[in-house]
Amino acid sequence: MNTIIQSLLSRRSVRKFKTEQVKDEDLHLILQAAILAPNGRNLEPWHFTVLQDPSKLIQLDELVAGAGNAFFYHAPTLILVSIELDNPYEKEDTACAMTNMMQACHALGLGSVWCNRINNNHALDTTLERFGVPKGYRVTGTLAVGYPDGTYPPPRKPKEGTITWVRP
Ligand SMILES: Cc1cc2nc3c(=O)[nH]c(=O)nc-3n(C[C@H](O)[C@H](O)[C@H](O)COP(=O)(O)O)c2cc1C
Repeated sequence: MNTIIQSLLSRRSVRKFKTEQVKDEDLHLILQAAILAPNGRNLEPWHFTVLQDPSKLIQLDELVAGAGNAFFYHAPTLILVSIELDNPYEKEDTACAMTNMMQACHALGLGSVWCNRINNNHALDTTLERFGVPKGYRVTGTLAVGYPDGTYPPPRKPKEGTITWVRP
């Protein structure tokens, strides 16, 4: 099977990570995949913050989930996707960038999972500036990234009945 298709069909969310940091060369590729994702009217309204400072990672986890929780699964790297305020394609552009990054992670042997708490909490918007999110941007997606610890999950069995063919 074509290797790209094979990769698309086998990606899974990973929620257990090794402590080892992700190699910069891999992160650069993942970020290239993000900034080259399709986006509405090619406005490229996004910013990507790569958070690797262990104390900031703990602070952010505590902020969104409370002390002692591991909402980001102790991943060594978090990529915060933020979008300029009032961009009409906020959700769509985020999803395209996040999907490209998840697939790039998988292709490079890394695990990732979309963590959703921040973007549902606009009270955090300005607070996130101290985590490297630019002023005037809103976090719309967070990707936890790291080397999978343990066996990679097997391909998912998708729900049935979600495809309709209309043919003459
Ligand atoms: C918009 C969105 C939000 C998600 N939020 C979370 C989350 O907060 N925490 C989490 O563990 N997984 C989260 N996920 C991952 C989904 O649970 C996962 O993609 C789904 O169960 C299918 O599993 P798979 O990715 O392994 O194929 C999210 C995925 C998407 C697309």
